[in-house]
Amino acid sequence: MKVDVILGLQWGDEGKGKVVDVISPGYDIIARFQGGPNAGHTIEFDGGRHILHLLPSGIFHKNTTNIIGNGVVVDPLIIMKEIAGLLPFGISAEQNLIISKRAHLILPSHRLLDACFEAIKGNLKIGSTLKGISPVYTDKAARSGLRAGDIFSERFFQKYGQLKQAHLLTAQSTGHDYRHILIDGLPFGEYEEKWMDAVQQMKKLRFEETEVFINEALRSGKTVLAEGAQGSLLDLEFGSYPFVTSSNTVCGGVCTGLGVSPHSIGTVYGIFKAYCTRVGSGPFPTEQSNELGDELRKSGNEYGSTTGRARRCGWLDLPALNYAVMINGVDELIMTKADVLSNFAEIQICTSYAQDGKEMNYLPFDLGEKSVVPSYKKYSGWNSDLGSITALSELPAATAAYIDVIENYVQKKISMVSTGPGREHIIKTIV
Ligand code: GDP
Ligand code: IMO
Ligand code: MG
Repeated sequence: MKVDVILGLQWGDEGKGKVVDVISPGYDIIARFQGGPNAGHTIEFDGGRHILHLLPSGIFHKNTTNIIGNGVVVDPLIIMKEIAGLLPFGISAEQNLIISKRAHLILPSHRLLDACFEAIKGNLKIGSTLKGISPVYTDKAARSGLRAGDIFSERFFQKYGQLKQAHLLTAQSTGHDYRHILIDGLPFGEYEEKWMDAVQQMKKLRFEETEVFINEALRSGKTVLAEGAQGSLLDLEFGSYPFVTSSNTVCGGVCTGLGVSPHSIGTVYGIFKAYCTRVGSGPFPTEQSNELGDELRKSGNEYGSTTGRARRCGWLDLPALNYAVMINGVDELIMTKADVLSNFAEIQICTSYAQDGKEMNYLPFDLGEKSVVPSYKKYSGWNSDLGSITALSELPAATAAYIDVIENYVQKKISMVSTGPGREHIIKTIV
C-alpha cells in the first residue's frame, strides 16, 4: 500500500482537520509528519467544536491508529492537556496514539527564546504562534535537541539542564529582558514545573520507532493518510521566506517526517480555501485590507484556531495555488469554505501578478522585499445556500463555473468541496 497525503496549499487553516476527520474512516492510520502545536485543526460534530494542535485528526475514530511522526515537534504539556481535554468526550488517546521516539521535544526555554527573538525583531516579526517552533527546529538542525525517546533516559535531566542553560545564555544575549516573559500566562519557573509533570505523565503513552511501524503497516496492506500542518506557502524552503514556519510543510516532508520512501507516496490531495487567509506577518498579494476583507473574515469566521488572532483575508490567488500544486505534485484538489462566498454578489480571482512591469504566474523569490501587483478576473457570486448539496452536479452554475476556472488554471480536478464546518457539509467523489 501507499501513503496518501493531504496538505494545505495556502498559508494554513485551509480546513485540513475537518476534511481529515471526514475521510479518516477510509484509513487505518492517520499520521502527522511535521510542525507542532503551532497547528490548530478544527473538527466539528454533534454540536461540539474541537481544536487539535498535536493529535492527528483521526483521533475521534476509535479504529484509527494516530501517529505523531519523527518530523513533528512535541510539547509534553500541550499534548497531555490535549489528551485530557478529550477524555470527557469518551476519547482515550492512549488507546490509539503512537508517538515517534525521534520526535523532538519543545522545552519551556524554546518558548522563551521564541518570545525573545520575536520581541527583538520589532516590525520585522514573523507573527509566530510562540510555541517554540523556530528554536526547537534550530536545535534539531544544530544536533543539540532532546527527543521524545530521551524522556526514558537516565541522562534526561542532565541533558535538559544543559540545553536550558544554553538557551538562557542565548536569551540573555538578545538584550531582551527575558526574565519577565510569561509562557501561557505563567512565569518561567511555574510553567517549567508543569512541563516536568507532563513529561512524567507522558511516559504512559506509546512511543515507538514509528517509521518501522508505518512501513510494516504498509507492507501488511494497511492504509495510511499523512496529515499536513500549516500550508505550502509557509514551507521553510518554498514559502514566503522569512515569513514562514520552520518545517517542510510540502509533500517532501512526508518522506523525511515519517520515514517512508518517495516510492511509497500515493495520492496527494491538496486542500485550499475558496479564497485566501493568512495569520501573522508576511506578503499576501491578494489581501483585501478593506471592507471586502472584513466581510470575508466575518462570513468565514476567520480567527486563528491556535492564537485567536484575526486572519488577514483576500481573494483566491491562482498563481500561488498553481505554484503549490507544482511543488507538491498534487493529484487532486479539495476546496473548502465554498459556502463563505455565498453572500458575495461578485467574486474575484487573481490570475497573474506583475513585478517591476514583468508579468508572472508564480511566486517570485523576493516577494518579501518587492511586492507584486495582482490582476483579477471577476465572476458572479452564487448567492445560494450550499449547505444541503451532496453531489458536485447539484452545485449552482456560478459555483460550477468558479470550479472550472480553477481546474483549468491548475490542470487538476477538484474532487471534494466542503460547504460548512460540520462532518455532513461535504461533497465528495473520493474515499
Ligand atoms: P486547519 O488548520 O487547516 O485544520 O483549519 P482551521 O481549523 O484552523 O480553520 C478552518 C476553520 O474553518 C475552522 O473553524 C473550521 O471549522 C472551518 N471550516 C472548515 N471547512 C469549512 C467549510 O467548508 N465552511 C465553513 N464555513 N467553515 C469551514
Ligand atoms: P495550521 O496547521 C496558519 C504561521 C504563524 C506565523 C508563521 C510562523 O492550523 O494550518 P510559527 O509558530 O510556526 O513560528 O509561526 O506561521 N502559522 C500558521 N498559520 N495555520 C497554521 O497551522 C500555522 N502555523 C504557523 O501565524 O505567521
Ligand atoms: Mg489551523
